[in-house]
Amino acid sequence: MSDKWNPEQYERFQAERSRPFYDLVDLIQHQENLRVIDLGSGTGKLTKYLHDTLAARETIGIDASENMLQKARQYEGDGLRFELGKIEDNPGDGKFDVVFSNAALQWLIGHEILLTKLRNKLQPNGQLAIQIPTMDDEPVHQLAVETAKEFSEELGGYVRRLKVLSPADYAKLLYKLGFIKQNVKLQIYGHVLPSREAVAEWYRGSLLTAYESHLESATYEKFVQRYQQKLFEILPDERPFFFPYKRILIWGRI
Ligand SMILES: C[S@@+](CC[C@H](N)C(=O)[O-])C[C@H]1O[C@@H](n2cnc3c(N)ncnc32)[C@H](O)[C@@H]1O
Repeated sequence: MSDKWNPEQYERFQAERSRPFYDLVDLIQHQENLRVIDLGSGTGKLTKYLHDTLAARETIGIDASENMLQKARQYEGDGLRFELGKIEDNPGDGKFDVVFSNAALQWLIGHEILLTKLRNKLQPNGQLAIQIPTMDDEPVHQLAVETAKEFSEELGGYVRRLKVLSPADYAKLLYKLGFIKQNVKLQIYGHVLPSREAVAEWYRGSLLTAYESHLESATYEKFVQRYQQKLFEILPDERPFFFPYKRILIWGRI
């Protein structure tokens, strides 16, 4: 599968996408000399902010996309560095004071096992801070699944299904994993976009990249057009367009 993360496309909605990141950073309790890992660190700008805000001793950003890492490397230095790696391969040697991940873990399935592994990366008193979108059941996501079924032959049957847990189930899981403090919340981020076209562009920079990896570029363009056509059947043609986006913020301390 090829690397279809495109930093420019992803950063088109940087202001909107960054808001939950800052809310997540605000949940972390500050202390000196923190060792931090940022899983799915993307273009690195936010990892740099995290590193500086926490005045961390060491921060390692991990990402599976070489395209994203190329952008991120400009921020390296003063205890911050980036490494190529897959979250599922348990990257980052040793234990951490903060295991952080903003808008990346939704790509992985099996969150009970994943969070157990992340908990095991924590030092005593360590903190876990995760933000994940929870849009799987929304029509904008369901339409991508429907479009994938229409392109089943070209995709070889591939369908990107995202399945995150409910906020209550994350809270229960943290308790079960021995987090003595926790704060889990569902937050609706209301994004005011120029038009409904921007919703399709939004997903071109994230959800649809999974399909781009599985298709020839001309076929992928047809895929995006078909997705947009379906989207416009359900989204009103309003300018600006109000786009409510649901996210779960998870913080816990052991
Ligand atoms: C939506 S972006 C978020 C980037 C950054 N955390 C931010 O808040 O801007 C998701 C990032 O996770 C990375 N990613 C997705 N799946 C991954 C995996 N299994 N292992 C490592 N990185 C992954 C992607 O390459 C991408 O850079």
